[in-house]
Amino acid sequence: MKVICVSGGSKGLGKGVVEDLLRHGYSVATYSRSKTEFIEKTQEAESSERFYWESIEGTDLEALKLFAQKVFRKYGQIDGLINNVGMASDGILTLMNSGDIDQLISLNLKSPLHLTQTCAKYMLQQGRGIIINISSIVGIRGHSGVAVYSATKSALDGFTRSLARELGGRNICVNAIAPGYMDTEMGAMLGEAKRKQIIRRTPLNRLGKVEDIVGMVRFLLSKDAEFITGQTLIIDGGLTC
Ligand SMILES: NC(=O)c1ccc[n+]([C@@H]2O[C@H](COP(=O)([O-])OP(=O)(O)OC[C@H]3O[C@@H](n4cnc5c(N)ncnc54)[C@H](OP(=O)(O)O)[C@@H]3O)[C@@H](O)[C@H]2O)c1
Repeated sequence: MKVICVSGGSKGLGKGVVEDLLRHGYSVATYSRSKTEFIEKTQEAESSERFYWESIEGTDLEALKLFAQKVFRKYGQIDGLINNVGMASDGILTLMNSGDIDQLISLNLKSPLHLTQTCAKYMLQQGRGIIINISSIVGIRGHSGVAVYSATKSALDGFTRSLARELGGRNICVNAIAPGYMDTEMGAMLGEAKRKQIIRRTPLNRLGKVEDIVGMVRFLLSKDAEFITGQTLIIDGGLTC
């Protein structure tokens, strides 16, 4: 059974990915800060061979390293890593305080980089692995009010491309998925006017849903995607076209 690590799997997109992977026969290890009803129910429903969750602060780099070590010791393999954890910022750069800027960079960028470093060491030992980074369309196109968030997501795309070159020869694929605005807790931070504006500008005339993204995650984990690496795949209903 293939073992996939998913960061931030308690709600939103991460929860959708965890549910979908469990449904398709994967074992899943995930973390978040708090235990949601979804995590509780999944722990009850699934054996510990199939599902593992831990409470971790995603900016605690040592805790992330221990998490990956624990998962590898428990399952003996890490076949895939989905770097999903992230937070949004709201506010123009000149008004942001430096603590908020650092927090965004720590969680959205440093955290996936360090978790990937530990997981990639195991993947190198195994001679195979798949890494998927969840970035965002605002890492590709400019949007006012999210400059630091955009910077972290563009950086994740750059990380994806260079790491794909570093690890390609060792049978490890690295890709990113850039969703448009989704109807999650994070997406709910959009005001009503902004939400209507985005829908108006989207050819497919709606916001994204978690289900629009999870199929792409599963595809990138599958054999059908074994010749795809170093790419950022945009899923946004055409907003950026
Ligand atoms: N929603 C959108 O419109 C949108 C669009 C493009 C890209 N994205 C990206 O998609 C990914 C998922 O977004 P989402 O909308 O599903 O977010 P979400 O609903 O806010 O879920 C975020 C997940 O990460 C965990 N998390 C957040 N902060 C954490 C921390 N400091 N330490 C540990 N875990 C933490 C949360 O659990 P706890 O709060 O319990 O820790 C939760 O499981 C993010 O990378 C985001 O940037 C989202």
